[in-house]
Amino acid sequence: MLQQVNGHGSGSAAHGGESLREDLQEFLGGEAPLQQLDDLTKVNPVTLETVLRCLQARYMADTFYTNAGCTLVAMNPFKPVPQLYSPELMQEYHAASQPQTLKPHIFTVGEQTYRNVKSLMEPVNQSIVVSGESGAGKTWTSRCLMKFYAVVAASPTSWESHKVAQRIEQRILNSNPVMEAFGNACTLRNNNSSRFGKFIQLQLNGAQQMTGAAVQTYLLEKTRVACQAPSERNFHIFYQIYKGAHAEERVRWCLPEGATFSWLPHPERTLEEDCFEVTREAMLHLGIDAPTQNNIFQALAGLLHLGNTQFADSGNEAQPCPLVDDAQCSVGTSALLLGLLEDHLLETLRIRTIQAGRGRQVFRKPCSQAECDTRRDCLAKLVYARLFDWLVSVINSSICAAPDSWTTFIGLLDVYGFESFPNNSLEQLCINYANEKLQQHFVAHYLRAQQEEYAVEGLEWSFVSYQDNQPCLDLIEGSPVSICSLINEECRLNRPSSAAQLQTRIESALTGRPRLGRDRLSPEPNFIVLHYAGPVRYRTAGLVEKNKDPVPPELTRLLQQSQDPLLKVLFPADPEEKSQEEPSGQNRAPVLTVVSKFKASLEQLLQVLHGTTPHYIRCIKPNSQAQAQIFHREEVLSQLEACGLVETIHISAAGFPIRVSHRNFVERYELLRRLRPATTLGRHGPCPDGGRSERPPCTEPATLRGLLQEILHALPAPLHCGRTKVFMTDSTLELLECARAQVLEQCARHIQRGWRRHRCRTQARRRRAAVLIQAAVRSWLARKHVRRLHAAATVIKRAWREWRIRMAFLASEELDGVEEKHSSQAPCSPSSSPLPLAQTRLQGAITRLWPLGLALANAAVGVHGFQRKLVVFACLQLPVGSPRSCAIQTAQEQAGVLSIRALPQGSIRFHCRKSPLRYADTCPGPSPDSVTGFNQILLERHRPGHV
Ligand SMILES: Nc1ncnc2c1ncn2[C@@H]1O[C@H](COP(=O)(O)OP(=O)(O)OP(=O)(O)O)[C@@H](O)[C@H]1O
Ligand SMILES: [Mg+2]
Repeated sequence: MLQQVNGHGSGSAAHGGESLREDLQEFLGGEAPLQQLDDLTKVNPVTLETVLRCLQARYMADTFYTNAGCTLVAMNPFKPVPQLYSPELMQEYHAASQPQTLKPHIFTVGEQTYRNVKSLMEPVNQSIVVSGESGAGKTWTSRCLMKFYAVVAASPTSWESHKVAQRIEQRILNSNPVMEAFGNACTLRNNNSSRFGKFIQLQLNGAQQMTGAAVQTYLLEKTRVACQAPSERNFHIFYQIYKGAHAEERVRWCLPEGATFSWLPHPERTLEEDCFEVTREAMLHLGIDAPTQNNIFQALAGLLHLGNTQFADSGNEAQPCPLVDDAQCSVGTSALLLGLLEDHLLETLRIRTIQAGRGRQVFRKPCSQAECDTRRDCLAKLVYARLFDWLVSVINSSICAAPDSWTTFIGLLDVYGFESFPNNSLEQLCINYANEKLQQHFVAHYLRAQQEEYAVEGLEWSFVSYQDNQPCLDLIEGSPVSICSLINEECRLNRPSSAAQLQTRIESALTGRPRLGRDRLSPEPNFIVLHYAGPVRYRTAGLVEKNKDPVPPELTRLLQQSQDPLLKVLFPADPEEKSQEEPSGQNRAPVLTVVSKFKASLEQLLQVLHGTTPHYIRCIKPNSQAQAQIFHREEVLSQLEACGLVETIHISAAGFPIRVSHRNFVERYELLRRLRPATTLGRHGPCPDGGRSERPPCTEPATLRGLLQEILHALPAPLHCGRTKVFMTDSTLELLECARAQVLEQCARHIQRGWRRHRCRTQARRRRAAVLIQAAVRSWLARKHVRRLHAAATVIKRAWREWRIRMAFLASEELDGVEEKHSSQAPCSPSSSPLPLAQTRLQGAITRLWPLGLALANAAVGVHGFQRKLVVFACLQLPVGSPRSCAIQTAQEQAGVLSIRALPQGSIRFHCRKSPLRYADTCPGPSPDSVTGFNQILLERHRPGHV
């Protein structure tokens, strides 16, 4: 059953009453139920109470994300909700044409940043600032966002680059468990509290593929290694090796089961963060091989044993402090594991060397018990801090891309959340200072700057008052006097610091500051800072020492002499480094204090943030017990107040989160002039080319304004044009981008159409050319063929003429023979007397008949019917008579061929009645067998029965 805690009542009764009230309100007001309101700007009226009720209703309905204008409110579910972060859901948000229309989610923010990077609109780089109290879900949120980017920014171009991108993304994701193991710890407020700040830069190339990442860390709370508050734990990694080491490793690292370590409080508590295997696996993926891992864990075990090195009071200043009972063993083990000489380690911890005098003489002075403890702690902090920095550098070298391989980035900021413990010291001061800075960035960006800008740009705007945390920041870091400056000054004064003295200095120097207070009931010297998220009481004791963070040079020298390969890397024997460390060890004023270094790194971070488009995710912790389905109204209310959510909603509801300079706007949306309806053409000036012309980038303000007006008139959504910038809401930007995509699509279609037309024309031209070439080639081939035929005909003609002459000759020979016989045997009949004439005619007939006979006998096609006969007659020189049959008395008759009858159509038959060559009937002469040549052919063909 759902449980609801609102400070006044809990359980089902309260819930029943609440839902009844909601139902009643819905019935009376006709408004949507509160849990259905995706955006807090729609809550009516926007007050803390209504906003709180809406968030509560949504939380109880398992809806954890709500838009609040320009920010996203993320409630911590404190229970696994796997379906909320599934890859399918990531893809859905990535593929959505308008992710804003989907349910509020961190993926909407992620997708928005990704699209902004794509759109290349200044500022191109994006940042997501995840803020909230400790335990509100910042680290969880940034982890999910990293997974989201890993899914959406995977390279789809080629299989190879896809593999590379996947490897990079896997490494980036693997950096989380490693950094959390070494940098997170269980605190009173969060079981997995980040004890360092992290800004991760996801680097994208021109195609918006993730090519690498870079991690920047801020101020690790290294004091935790040696000092844990009651009920808190050391960094997770110590518990991981303590609980997860194998038997053989336990021997190697001297971590027998059940061993107790003073720097390992509450080992009996089991957290899900204690999984050693996950860390090992991730380290392996990041390129930290098994021997190096072993080396790291061995050093960490050495630190645990170092913590068991307890000193007793010597009672004599001249004598070094003795060790408590079984501490000797711990020193030996620690020295062994750290690759140090036991005696050397012990001496360094107990004896201080001082260089003094003109000759820089070295004096050795035994330390007091407290000093010994401080030196021991300092040694552990030094090793751990270097180890952490080294890990970060290894991670960076493993995931960082070459500078020329990326062009834009999306930054994810996950810093330690605002903290207030019973005892707060320098660490909390720094953490809360960082949160103040980020809140100021938000205030400056959204609440103040935005409103001021509206006024400057001449937009109609009624000012919304908001809670500005600038006075608090002035108190902490302002100049000339602030808490930081006073603490730093105490460090430089080079005198023994006194907590009471510092308190007095702070009170006197900063008196009258609105955000400063003091807990007069507390016996300890303290001061209270009224942070934007609530008042925090800081103890002044130890502040200056922590700020100095002195590292005795003997310690560094000791570690430089270590035989351990890892410590050799962490503490190289570098003379430059030595000279840097020494002044602080020699009790000189340190040049750089912890606070000044932290302040410088924060300034740097904010500079980076200023160069990006920021997006805010406000994580809210619904209860401090980390319980699901419990909503503590007071706690949430204080968080809402602290982050100025109501003011943000007011300003966002009325304001325009997007502002683009006129030039950038024109450059990006000039093509939207094409959208201008035809009816408005006349009214808003000519656009004869439909916005098609390529103009050079306009520099003239007048031209720019003209163009801007043209674009604004063509737009589908109203925009607010200021003096130098165009202002719009997210939804308007979305519309503009849609319209732009539409125009680009149209352009693409035009280009495609033009290209297709060009291609068709080219193809048609080519086809025509091919036909021409084919025709030319064919005609050439035909001509060539005809020429060949012609040549062949000539050859045949020649052969034919030769043959004809030969035939004529043969015929004349035959006739000559007959004539001679006649003249010698008997007088010739009168009919046969004119032999030479007959011979000539016969020769003519033969000559004419031979081809005709050949042609007509063999031709199946050709001339038919009457034409054929005509041809035959023409060949035979016959008079054209009856078409059916005719007996012709021609020259042949005179020569002895009485008639050649052409039979009716279709039959190629000649009937030769009498041939002068058939002498067997009429006269003696050569026998038919002796007839040769054409005559023989004729005789053969016209034998009865031969058709
Ligand atoms: N979206 C979520 N779904 C499920 N559990 C969550 C979610 N967000 C946070 N939690 C739970 O809340 C715990 C605290 O979250 P997280 O460590 O992210 O807080 P944080 O804001 O980073 O705190 P700190 O400032 O101390 O580092 C997580 O360990 C997890 O158990
Ligand atoms: Mg965290």
